Amino acid sequence: MSDLLTGAPTDGSFTRSDRDILGRFWHPVAFAAELGDQPLAAMLLDIPLVLFRDGDRLAAAVDRCPHRGSRLSRGWMKDGQLVCPYHGLHYGLDGQCTRIPAQADSKKISDRLRLDTFPIATQNNLVWVCLSAEPKGPRPSWSELGDSEFQHFTLPSFACRTSAARYCENFNDVAHFSWVHRGTFGLQDSAEIPSPAVAATDTGLHHEVVYRQIDRDRFDKGEGSMTESFYRYDFALPFANHMRIDFGAGRTQHIFSVAQPTTVDSCRIFVQILRNYDLDQPIEEAIRFEQAVAAEDLAVIEHIDPAELPLDAAGESHIWGDRWSATYRKKLKDIGLGRSDRR
Ligand code: FES
Ligand SMILES: [Fe+2]
Repeated sequence: MSDLLTGAPTDGSFTRSDRDILGRFWHPVAFAAELGDQPLAAMLLDIPLVLFRDGDRLAAAVDRCPHRGSRLSRGWMKDGQLVCPYHGLHYGLDGQCTRIPAQADSKKISDRLRLDTFPIATQNNLVWVCLSAEPKGPRPSWSELGDSEFQHFTLPSFACRTSAARYCENFNDVAHFSWVHRGTFGLQDSAEIPSPAVAATDTGLHHEVVYRQIDRDRFDKGEGSMTESFYRYDFALPFANHMRIDFGAGRTQHIFSVAQPTTVDSCRIFVQILRNYDLDQPIEEAIRFEQAVAAEDLAVIEHIDPAELPLDAAGESHIWGDRWSATYRKKLKDIGLGRSDRR
């Protein structure tokens, strides 16, 4: 098992210090259903990874063959071994080369023909990787995902051209609803938002807010009924978001959205949703609605300058409702992010 956090240069977009801190957390790299019987490429904190599996056993390694640097994710699986597409070297789940087709089986295989592998786990329908041999903190529990009274669906994962922290800040921000989401559920008359109390939890932050929104029969039509909705947010550091929305009359929705930090100014988003209403309605319509909401967010947040979240209090001006984002920035600073400029 490798620990890339032992001083290796990053050659990437993150500062070495930030990558080392974030690399100790678990991050999502794929939906579990996406990792089938072929290797999968993923990028985490500037590190290209290959993910592969043999039945229930999973592996994550640097996506580079130690023989001649070929991309292993372009290879394939054979008999539980990852096969490099260039000269066919085989690698086991522990990263060790087990076969070199161009040389006789009796020849010894060098220990140097070994992939750097990392801790990997599946939980909550996602594949998680940590770049440190000693992961810091748990993966989010999200126990609601096991509630059989709710219908579960996912959005296809999507790339987001801003930092994971900017994405999370937006997810937990309510003041943008009336502006960014005026084509879906936002209501201009509800623009004034009470500044929510933000409570620290064991793993992150909690806040609650009531928002009067528009509940459209067809979201791309203007008409709809008003709904007083109760939003409860539970956030887990560094990039895992959970929002519970109670629309009244027992209608509840959960949105679990977690950002995979790919580079310092880009991330990939994994969204899962639960609902206990409209169970007889086609799921495609709900997915289309949530994708429209996400597209409204991306249209704004992908153009925020800078893409990196300023952790310095003087970096941006806060308004009254920004208590969550001010607390989040402080939390990121507390775990040590933003201390060094050295890449
Ligand atoms: S580069 Fe992978 S086998 Fe040669
Ligand atoms: Fe939004």
